[in-house]
Amino acid sequence: MKAGIYPGSFDPATFGHLDIIKRAAALMDNLIVGVLKNNGKTPLFSVDERVNMLRDAVKDIENVQVMSFSGLLVDFARQHGVNVIVRGLRAVTDFEYELLMSQTNRVMAPDIDTIFLTTSLDYAYLSSSTVREIASYGGDISKFVPPDIEDIIRKKYKEENR
Ligand code: PNS
Repeated sequence: MKAGIYPGSFDPATFGHLDIIKRAAALMDNLIVGVLKNNGKTPLFSVDERVNMLRDAVKDIENVQVMSFSGLLVDFARQHGVNVIVRGLRAVTDFEYELLMSQTNRVMAPDIDTIFLTTSLDYAYLSSSTVREIASYGGDISKFVPPDIEDIIRKKYKEENR
């Protein structure tokens, strides 16, 4: 069985993340999308909200499971018997961080490898933080996230501005 983990904060998930999930799932028997619980920064969405948004967005891809994790990614991978980590690379600016992270993970867990998928050009500029910023000013985010996630983001900012 070829299985992989695609980890991230997904605060919120964007079309860029969904593109990587679809493509990674096509390469593997099973893909776990791991949503980080404790990433130091305070996320806009709770971990349950992020997991639920993603579950809904990937419900039609049979071999994808979405779950949260806390602690080290390599421990989470081992708990699930997975030895492949998938990350997306948008631009050269991602590279240094991703390289250090994959090397660190490899020092901690030499049995686990990281593979990189280059983000489709359509989404190469896209990040969760850009989506949050545009939404916080009431801008149109329909080109960046699916309609259900767009609704949830809009509601969140309405609640915040109440
Ligand atoms: O979407 P992000 O925020 O770029 O994802 C970062 C993530 C979740 C992959 C990374 O922060 C992570 O793996 N955190 C878990 C803690 C860990 O294992 N740290 C050591 C890696 S250097």
